[in-house]
Amino acid sequence: MVRPTTNNSLRSIINPVIFVLSAFLVTSCYYDNEEYLYPELPGGQCDTTGVTYSAFVAPLLASNCNSCHNEATPNGNVITSTYTGLKNAVNSGVFRKAINHESGTSFMPKGGNKLPSCELLKIDAWINQGAPQN
Ligand code: HEC
Repeated sequence: MVRPTTNNSLRSIINPVIFVLSAFLVTSCYYDNEEYLYPELPGGQCDTTGVTYSAFVAPLLASNCNSCHNEATPNGNVITSTYTGLKNAVNSGVFRKAINHESGTSFMPKGGNKLPSCELLKIDAWINQGAPQN
């Protein structure tokens, strides 16, 4: 038995639902990056004061970098697990470029998301102090 009226009204409900779902899928992929997943402080602020090697930089590298950049496995000739190794990479400029995904470098962390922008700003603040072992 053909009931075109029912089919049409069903379709008029289902089509918008499919449209909304696909729009959601597209935008959820589009926004699937770390800046949206890990928002900064309320109001989009990032506190870059008082960043130290011991309290901020070293633990960040331990979580994100040292597995591939230690003395036993210095990928790309870069060691992030020691202050001296890190300082060399900072001084050559390659450290800052790699984590900020600037062209001409391998983007780090390799195979992972770019670090959240507030963490990058804090690292910049530390580098601008002269990258001290503080
Ligand atoms: C899964 C392993 C892995 C992780 C995690 C990783 N790296 Fe690397 N890194 C590499 C490899 C391998 C290279 C050598 C270049 C290449 O193969 O892309 C490299 C190269 C580099 C270079 C030199 C880039 C260049 O263009 O010469 C720097 C600087 C660097 N990594 C810093 C970091 C920092 C900082 C982190 C953490 C935020 C990190 N890496 C995380 C594997 C890794």
